[in-house]
Amino acid sequence: MERRVLGDGGPELPAVGLGTWRTSNLTAVVHAALGAGATVVDSSPMYGDAERLLGEEALRGRRDHAFVATKIWSQSAEEGRHQAERALSFFGGRIDLYQVHNLSAWRDQLTLIESLRAEGLVRCTGATHYAPSAFGELAQVMRTRRVDCVQIPYNPRERSVEREILPLAEELGIGVVVMRPLGEGALLRRAPGPEELEPLREFGVSTWPQALLKWILSDRRVTVAIPATSKPEWMTENARAGEPPWFGPDERALVERLAAR
Ligand SMILES: NC(=O)c1ccc[n+]([C@@H]2O[C@H](COP(=O)([O-])OP(=O)(O)OC[C@H]3O[C@@H](n4cnc5c(N)ncnc54)[C@H](OP(=O)(O)O)[C@@H]3O)[C@@H](O)[C@H]2O)c1
Repeated sequence: MERRVLGDGGPELPAVGLGTWRTSNLTAVVHAALGAGATVVDSSPMYGDAERLLGEEALRGRRDHAFVATKIWSQSAEEGRHQAERALSFFGGRIDLYQVHNLSAWRDQLTLIESLRAEGLVRCTGATHYAPSAFGELAQVMRTRRVDCVQIPYNPRERSVEREILPLAEELGIGVVVMRPLGEGALLRRAPGPEELEPLREFGVSTWPQALLKWILSDRRVTVAIPATSKPEWMTENARAGEPPWFGPDERALVERLAAR
């Protein structure tokens, strides 16, 4: 799988990872992800018990093989510290990418994340938001240069980040993690048939989810896409979209037309 540098001089990450929001069968899916080289695993205290299951079960004995991205999600500084203590206990005392979830109390939480980084407990800092209405504030956070990475939604039907966030990430050397790459599954409901995907076959694409993931990753400003799935075989299929060759404008336009139906 292709590896891309996160931000300016950050770690090299595989282009496909795994999201854990509402993921059942987590251990089997994480093992499939690691086996396929999709070693970035994203979680949050907002995703029920996902952080604990990831750290204590799915990554048991395998912590060193994963790049753990998780988040602080609270309006309260005290609760933020509590979440950080719990997360550090689940993930062997270190978090690879620690993000402020939905920009909640971002000044307080980012200060905490920076202090954890100064102690060597956190490697990279980040901020996330899912809503275009918050992208102005997210851009403000990026301009402080205090985050190595942002996590945003991007797929052929959700392209708001093309206006400001992706150009700014490129300008400032900030990494981009793509959430909701398959539109939470909505983009898969009317999947094109094999004959419609034929022009993409020479790009290593044989399924519609792979076409959507490769559409995202063909924008070189993206560092890693994190599709979620509860099926190990789908994880393996998704990981294959992280290999070059990448789409040009014609292939991207084809995927956009197919996704618009
Ligand atoms: N959505 C948000 O607002 C949000 C916010 C912050 C962070 N995130 C992060 O981003 C991650 C990904 O976003 P997401 O979970 O919202 O949605 P997503 O990855 O766009 O879509 C997940 C859906 O796609 C299906 N799927 C995945 N691979 C497939 C394949 N190869 N073939 C057929 N179906 C496939 C899954 O089905 P099955 O479940 O049946 O396998 C699931 O229904 C989250 O898990 C989380 O870590 C999301």
